[in-house]
Amino acid sequence: MRAQTTLLRFMTCGSVDDGKSTLIGRLLYESKALFDDQLTTLAADSAKVGTRGGELDFALLVDGLAAEREQGITIDVAYRFFSTDRRAFIVADTPGHEQYTRNMVTGASTADVAVILIDARKGVLTQTRRHSYLASLLGIRQVIVAINKMDLVEYAREVFARIERDYREFASRLGFDSITCIPLSAVDGANVISRSTATPWYEGPPLLEYLETIHVADEPASRQFRLPVQGVIHPSADFRGLTGLAVSGRVSVGDVVRVLPVGTSSPVARILVGTQDVKSAMAGQSATIVLTHDLDVSRGDVLVGADGPPEVADQFEAAIVWLHEAPMLPGRSYRLKIGTRTVMATVAPLKYKVNVNTLEHVAARTLELNDIGVCGLELDQPIVYEPYAQNRDLGGFILIDRITQNTVGAGILHFALRRSQNVRWQQFDVTKESRAECNGQRPCVLWFTGLSGAGKSTIANLVEKRLQTLGARTYLLDGDNVRRGLNKDLGFTDADRVENIRRVAEVAKLMVDAGLIVLVSFISPFRAERRMARDLMAEGEFFEVFVDTPLADAEARDRKGLYRKARRGELRNFTGIDSPYEAPEAADVHIDTTAVGPEQAAESIVDELIRAGNLSG
Ligand code: ADX
Repeated sequence: MRAQTTLLRFMTCGSVDDGKSTLIGRLLYESKALFDDQLTTLAADSAKVGTRGGELDFALLVDGLAAEREQGITIDVAYRFFSTDRRAFIVADTPGHEQYTRNMVTGASTADVAVILIDARKGVLTQTRRHSYLASLLGIRQVIVAINKMDLVEYAREVFARIERDYREFASRLGFDSITCIPLSAVDGANVISRSTATPWYEGPPLLEYLETIHVADEPASRQFRLPVQGVIHPSADFRGLTGLAVSGRVSVGDVVRVLPVGTSSPVARILVGTQDVKSAMAGQSATIVLTHDLDVSRGDVLVGADGPPEVADQFEAAIVWLHEAPMLPGRSYRLKIGTRTVMATVAPLKYKVNVNTLEHVAARTLELNDIGVCGLELDQPIVYEPYAQNRDLGGFILIDRITQNTVGAGILHFALRRSQNVRWQQFDVTKESRAECNGQRPCVLWFTGLSGAGKSTIANLVEKRLQTLGARTYLLDGDNVRRGLNKDLGFTDADRVENIRRVAEVAKLMVDAGLIVLVSFISPFRAERRMARDLMAEGEFFEVFVDTPLADAEARDRKGLYRKARRGELRNFTGIDSPYEAPEAADVHIDTTAVGPEQAAESIVDELIRAGNLSG
């Protein structure tokens, strides 16, 4: 065992072929972090397929590990461990292709230092700028620019100087605390472990020495105590433990801790790490905390020290990195996971996106794959947070698509917006229940979805007529009508349709609160927004009615002549032609218009409402 003083977490980033694998391989080799069998395989592989004429080809080592890792789809970042006499290291190796921004984000969110590789022959590339911008966004304060392949430019001082100048000029706006440029050759080993005679003009340290001595301030353990609660364990009547990973600070038996967001507090009675009782636990440890008082605590709450508690809010300014092919759509709601908490979040609005080459702010309505933007974020429930710059665990989040469950974005919270804190839902004496009772019905939404010309409005019209003869109080919200007023400003891009449905769902919710049976007749082509509308209403208040007409039939009917225009190319983004329609998978009522006429369809819908008890027959 070597005596270790500190641990340094760093990440490497670079483009394809810039020698990153060789560099990491050499660091692992020289620090003797490899097992004997790995060395034997490396020697054999180097002789067989190596590009180094019989010498060890370190790239094979790392790429070999990488190939294994690519078989599994979930682990995208390889963490490698090595140590020297002076320090232990964890290196997050993130693949460099543009589409691997996701890995870069994952790696950067736990690293203190970034080693950014540049191929001396190519200089500063878009990828270099993107990686540097992401590193700064994700809280990395110190970068090492490894200007590699110096052997291929004859170790020319001017080449190094030019790249260093270019890089510093770009990075001066990123606010790093330190930028250190090192000329090296991973293949020759120049300036990796020891100083190279090939670069007499370079006076700085070799890479490993610099990594061993670089000072990283602010150990998480020295900050305020924070532990996002992962679970509550209750194996017996007299034991109730709160489990989770302490993300910062330390806690000791007897300390008073607060439970946020509620704000209750209690002294700590016991702390267990594993099954052992301990006096205190600190950042980086998973612990079970037993409180003296029996407080109401659940997963997603955060235990914090009594001093300087973090804030609670539900609206933020945030920066988002988009990680999915399907663009981010403002107005759409995504699942937001922060710490151990998951809430729903809507992006509204996008303020700008960032051109990573120039760092300019560019106006944009959506974010595409790999875009980075700054936006407002509205959550459906308040969360405990700290700005990412202060606490990565309570300020960093991921966004998950609510239908596919894919991680589609990652982001950081800048600050809370105060506007929501001054606006509260007002409770009045006349309630939804009393209005409903007056109307003699259980208010609800009948949500008609289907292609343009499918017959939604025709059927909705018949349903409303029937409901009225039964004495129901109703209102019909129709896409064409709402688009002539409230939603006049919206067109037919995906983003506009999302906003169209968001607004009409909110209006429908108010109308349900008014005690009405609301008929909504909109194409509403996306599952995510129909789900959002359903989730806005209480249980049993939402009926999805799928008016299922084959495209060919709707097109053959074409009463408004819009399909003809769309086919002629005079109308863009037309649903079913060049804009998607995502059919419901489990509608509450499925109307197959090839089998039933509008009258019969309307009757079955009204019957369904009577059966569900929303009105008396
Ligand atoms: S939605 O997709 O955003 O839900 P909505 O129901 O409000 O659409 O509006 C659809 C109506 O707008 C159609 O019935 C049609 O009359 C008209 N319309 C005009 N352009 C388009 C288009 N590009 N795609 C679909 N409908 C269009």
